Amino acid sequence: MTGTTGAADAVTTPKVAVVFYSATGNVAALAEAVAEGARKEGAEVRVRPVPELAPPQAIASNPRWQTWVDTNPYEQPATLDDLDWADGIALGSPTRFGGPAGQLKEFLDTTGGLWAKGKLIDKVGTAFTSSSTKHGGLESTILAMNNVFYHWGSIVLPLGYSDPAVMESGNPYGGSFVSRKSAAPDEEALAACRVQGARLARISRYVAAGRAGDLE
Ligand SMILES: Cc1cc2nc3c(=O)[nH]c(=O)nc-3n(C[C@H](O)[C@H](O)[C@H](O)COP(=O)(O)O)c2cc1C
Repeated sequence: MTGTTGAADAVTTPKVAVVFYSATGNVAALAEAVAEGARKEGAEVRVRPVPELAPPQAIASNPRWQTWVDTNPYEQPATLDDLDWADGIALGSPTRFGGPAGQLKEFLDTTGGLWAKGKLIDKVGTAFTSSSTKHGGLESTILAMNNVFYHWGSIVLPLGYSDPAVMESGNPYGGSFVSRKSAAPDEEALAACRVQGARLARISRYVAAGRAGDLE
């Protein structure tokens, strides 16, 4: 990088969108930790849940799901503009039969227009999840979300063993929480997600600076 003036001014504050689905709050807590890490690294952050699409009777069959729907603290749902706006995108979903939730997929399936215009090329993308069991599909879910980034032409950002926090929780693919007997993600899982958010902001800043012409 040649300096912090001119084009780089526009990207000293990288823009990060954390787009997620959560039925009972676990992934939402991870999303907030990703956002916290990104903000600490200087990013402007939007945290946006995708819309709930399940029928009311399915939601009512699980009291924790119903409570989450009734008390959802998010006023603004994810929109295509959030993806267009962002330099870096973090996708989050609970593990559902080894893959992402349909609600997130439904939202991602509306991005064809952005894709066709090449608007998602060179965004930095990373993914995180929560499952109830350790070998219940954490990694396959993250990899499935990452597949979308490949198709968009984004730059896939793994968590890697980039920080000691990943030795305690998560995995090199992305932030991961095993919710089995917990009501909410533990501090170790949140710490790994903060690292992921900070890394996303940092790399997004580098890439955005390059896109703005600051790198020769
Ligand atoms: C329909 C359904 C499918 C699920 N599939 C899996 C699975 O394949 N593996 C697993 O370990 N947990 C599975 N779970 C559990 C969730 O991934 C887990 O409870 C997660 O922490 C929920 O996150 P949330 O609170 O953000 O919704 C499933 C849950 C539901 C409702």
